[in-house]
Amino acid sequence: MRTSSVLVTGANGEIGHGLITRLAASGRPIVTIDIAPLEPALARLVRREFTGSITDTALLERVLSEFEIDLVFHLAALLSTRSEFTPMTAHEVNVEGTLNLLEFAHHEGESHGRPVVFLYPSSIAAYGLPDLETKTRVHRVREDEWNTPTTMYGCNKLYCEHLGRYYAKHYKQLAADSTAGRVDFRCVRFPGLISAVTVPSGGTSDYAPEMIHAAARGEPYACFVRPDTRIPLMTMPDAIDALVRLASGPRERLTRTAYNLAAFSPTAEQICDVVQKTFPRAAITWQVDPKRQRIVDSWPAEVDDTTARRDWGFAPRYDFKAAFDDYLIPTIRERYSL
Ligand code: SER
Repeated sequence: MRTSSVLVTGANGEIGHGLITRLAASGRPIVTIDIAPLEPALARLVRREFTGSITDTALLERVLSEFEIDLVFHLAALLSTRSEFTPMTAHEVNVEGTLNLLEFAHHEGESHGRPVVFLYPSSIAAYGLPDLETKTRVHRVREDEWNTPTTMYGCNKLYCEHLGRYYAKHYKQLAADSTAGRVDFRCVRFPGLISAVTVPSGGTSDYAPEMIHAAARGEPYACFVRPDTRIPLMTMPDAIDALVRLASGPRERLTRTAYNLAAFSPTAEQICDVVQKTFPRAAITWQVDPKRQRIVDSWPAEVDDTTARRDWGFAPRYDFKAAFDDYLIPTIRERYSL
């Protein structure tokens, strides 16, 4: 008998850390795939850890043969800055890897006769505003507006949103016996995420978490975007809550496959001010990287998450003030023993 389990890809990454801890508390067996071995604290929480790439279909076959997967959190990806340096690898991991996982989920659903719920984190990078003037003018962007990403990562995410919708609704639509719907695809477009316990790598929203963690460690930080830069941000606990909540939302209530999520949208300067008040010795300077700035300027300052709130009750706990007062500052102080 195969054991009914949850599969998490990219388990060692920032979202994986919080998600695995959260899922483990619910008692459900967890199976993971990551290119690197899991940290010991995480490894203890999972039923089985596969070390390897999501581009390795033989590895996915092994998982399929041993476990009955009902729920997939497909987190593995190369983020936006890294993807610009290696677009072919980004496509391989972000697109071909996701296609492999969708196909895997489809076969799982076929083999156990129930749809596999497939959670996919997309991103504000799926948007692409042409210039700053437009960004200032448009305010809260809705899901179907400005879907013209400028980054490889954004293109990859947007396309995979469509692939997921295809598997869920239109898979092999010309076949005599169409089998669409074996994959119950559910996707959130995350803002830039800030965790108090891990630091991201390879993203372009990284200036926010980098600034906070550098100050807490007593290290100087040169911020790579202008002080007036504004994009949507969210705390990691709210991101994990959103994934778990959407995973358990009733299918018939979901009117879309991809949902915006919003929490707060401070400027880089507002983040700097709070960080400086909290850690008075913080040495933050501004050293704008025009190329990375252009990427952040193509992302909206605010997104409209009305549909997520209405369809599945998305409700972030932390606004800008609470994010610092109730989550980031106390948790970071504890982490760095301040
Ligand atoms: N945080 C991501 C990045 O910067 C955006 O989703 O690439």
